[in-house]
Amino acid sequence: MTDTATRGAHPHDPLNADEVRTAVTAVTGSGRVPDGTLFATIAVDEPDRTQMAAFAAGAPLERRIRLVVLPGPEAAVIEVVVRVSDSAIIEWIPRDDVRPALLYDDAYRSILALKEDPDWQAAMSRRGITDYDKVQIDPWPTGSFGRDMEDGRRITRCLSYYREDPSDNGYARPVEGVLATVDAARGIVLEVTDFGVVPLAPEPGSYLPEHNEPLRQSLQTLDIIQPDGSSLSVDGNLLTWQQWTMRVDMNALEGLVLHDVGWVDAPSGATRTILHRAAISEMVVPYGDPDPMHNWKNAFDVGEWGLGRMANSLKLGCDCLGEITYLDAVFASEHGKPYVLEHAVCIHEEDYGILWKHTDMNTGRTEVRRSRRLVVSSIATVGNYDYGFFWYFYQDGTVQLEAKLTGIMSTKGIPVGGTTSHGTVIAPGLAAPIHQHLFCARLDPAIDGPINEVYEVSFTGEPTGPDNLMGNAISRRVTRLESEAAAKRQVDAASSRHWRLVNPERTNALNQPVAFKLVPGSTPTLLADPDSSIGRRAAFARHNLWVTPYHPDERRAAGDYPNQHVGGSGLPKWTAADRSLIGTEIVVWHTFGVTHSPRPEDWPIMPVEYCGFHLIAAGFFDRNPALDLPPPSHCH
Ligand code: CO
Repeated sequence: MTDTATRGAHPHDPLNADEVRTAVTAVTGSGRVPDGTLFATIAVDEPDRTQMAAFAAGAPLERRIRLVVLPGPEAAVIEVVVRVSDSAIIEWIPRDDVRPALLYDDAYRSILALKEDPDWQAAMSRRGITDYDKVQIDPWPTGSFGRDMEDGRRITRCLSYYREDPSDNGYARPVEGVLATVDAARGIVLEVTDFGVVPLAPEPGSYLPEHNEPLRQSLQTLDIIQPDGSSLSVDGNLLTWQQWTMRVDMNALEGLVLHDVGWVDAPSGATRTILHRAAISEMVVPYGDPDPMHNWKNAFDVGEWGLGRMANSLKLGCDCLGEITYLDAVFASEHGKPYVLEHAVCIHEEDYGILWKHTDMNTGRTEVRRSRRLVVSSIATVGNYDYGFFWYFYQDGTVQLEAKLTGIMSTKGIPVGGTTSHGTVIAPGLAAPIHQHLFCARLDPAIDGPINEVYEVSFTGEPTGPDNLMGNAISRRVTRLESEAAAKRQVDAASSRHWRLVNPERTNALNQPVAFKLVPGSTPTLLADPDSSIGRRAAFARHNLWVTPYHPDERRAAGDYPNQHVGGSGLPKWTAADRSLIGTEIVVWHTFGVTHSPRPEDWPIMPVEYCGFHLIAAGFFDRNPALDLPPPSHCH
């Protein structure tokens, strides 16, 4: 990839504004869509592994843009692919009965329609609310519950919150009991249900500094200074740091996407591939309160919202501290206009304690090396919640993804002094339901080459016997996951279960297959009834591991269009064929996350909760690959 990594000329270059204009003009000028057509997503039509291999071998590769087009208010899209060089439309595929991620336009239409609706206004009046400007309305993707009104429509379900002052935290005062369903594409209120008045919670729940004085005074200045600059280098979106090399991109739905993650061997300069592509393919937040006001609540934050569309512009000294390199991202508005999200990605290196150390007890000599890691991060705000996605790359070859969960919990009004089932009272008159945050990372591994396999590794103690006189033996059970059905796996903490991503065609100097191991962290699975609506729609989250043979169209764990989808798409559908995983290119899907039992300490804003996983070299190298680190210069 070194030959072809020139800026502006690589297949994994990010989307640019001219490409958006070219693609949109091709569609609007085709005569095949009406005025007012909307564009749900516009993204680079990524070349697949075969095309990338041809490109690496010197073949030219045409640049193509993929659009999801909404010609009208129906539940139907057109998938279009435009070739940039001549603006030709090379794919035009109408898809009926699917909905893209919730559009901003649809959200605004829902809010405006609801505020004009007499039934909603009457429900507000019953609660003494007459100034509708003080009501915050949150439109949610509605889910799929088999009701006639869902058919053929793009629907939102709307929750109301009261803000006495515009700076108030709306989630402190849910207007409990009022639930509205809106045809969002047409701006028609379909239904307003009033489950009964619950008085507004008394406390404002502000997290603003001016409402939380006195502020702590004990913090001394802590600056991170690199007087000689950062050790990383960025050329376009090609990032290199120490032995690591990768391309960094933002996708409107998946957010951060890493391409061609590799390790440059120090003496030879040859790049060893590790990951072809890595991203969060989907995440779901199912709520666990059976109260009819709340029992429909769930969100697919990739397919119904979009971690790129919702990404923050990051601020130096706030989101990221020290010597920071930022990448901007180009997205397209729903009206087909390109725009730049400045500082969408933050890249820096940071000290991470010690990497290795030993004191020789005989000589007293100590060798210690400090650990540094490369951080590639973005943060998305999805309604009340905020999610950080932090990829870490370490000097010993370890890769880590850490998701950071913060922001404000979804709340429920209760009588002051009352209790709640399936949740926690977090403030007077306020509760938060139990819920889950379940992420599914799609890892497209290329451990030293394209052909990879997955082995499950677990450990058991052996009983005392003739071959185990002291009863101390620990055995390692290694099982190749040979088909998709066999590769639907759960974690098992007691056996230290993990999964090895192996290249069966390459060995290290010890004649072992080169491998990385996927080490799970916090790994709940979906607790909803498998036959429930969300159980069917979020079936990907019922297993911690899935493995599929590589297919370029299989990108998102719950399918391309989870919004209002009845379920069964994505991983459950693909893996029903039980394809072989032997001697082929594979994709590894890892579900991890948090079952969130709300705490009072999570209110009014949640201190970051962390979850994620590690990919750790396990026979990829012949020995500790960080012996060549110099001793620390400040070691006295
Ligand atoms: Co939560």
